Amino acid sequence: MKTLIVYFSYSQNTKAIAEYIHDLIPKSDLIRIELKDDRKLSKWYAMIKYGFNTIFKRKMPIKKVEIDWAEYERVIIGSPVWVGNAPPPLLSFIESYEFNLLTLPVSVFCSCGSDPGNYFNEIGKRIGNEKVENRFVYIESAGKGLEEVKSDLEGFVFRMKKGVRFSM
Ligand SMILES: Cc1cc2nc3c(=O)[nH]c(=O)nc-3n(C[C@H](O)[C@H](O)[C@H](O)COP(=O)(O)O)c2cc1C
Repeated sequence: MKTLIVYFSYSQNTKAIAEYIHDLIPKSDLIRIELKDDRKLSKWYAMIKYGFNTIFKRKMPIKKVEIDWAEYERVIIGSPVWVGNAPPPLLSFIESYEFNLLTLPVSVFCSCGSDPGNYFNEIGKRIGNEKVENRFVYIESAGKGLEEVKSDLEGFVFRMKKGVRFSM
């Protein structure tokens, strides 16, 4: 049985974290959630448009992802934090596969500028807070690059494999 890692990343921070988690778990698959509308927007336009979508809970349709859930024993999901919340593309994924996520152990990680805000609650509301095994938060403003958070990520994966629940 394998671990499924699913992530959404707009400006690639979450991508780097997800790829390192994938490296750490030999029997794992990595899936990127992609927007149906994948036109690249300027930084400020994206902030405003995606920020409003998040605040007003507007859906952002994602490309269909085919997953053979029978292959997996656990799931790790992650994304950036948008306006103190889980971004609509990740919520679209959770909505599409809520049943599968409810039946497997789930760990969650995020990348944020400074504060994860309501991110974990928003996900917990959908799949059950008690179900979220482990959490990892990458905070950009702490000024650490991927190299400097690798050992924290190793701890996150270690706890998950050992079934030790821990919240950051
Ligand atoms: C629309 C938008 C809203 C954001 N809102 C927040 C926020 O509320 N809190 C925060 O700490 N960072 C916020 N950020 C910063 C991102 O969470 C951060 O840059 C993250 O590392 C980006 O991950 P990515 O490169 O995988 O997209 C926001 C970024 C965008 C684009």
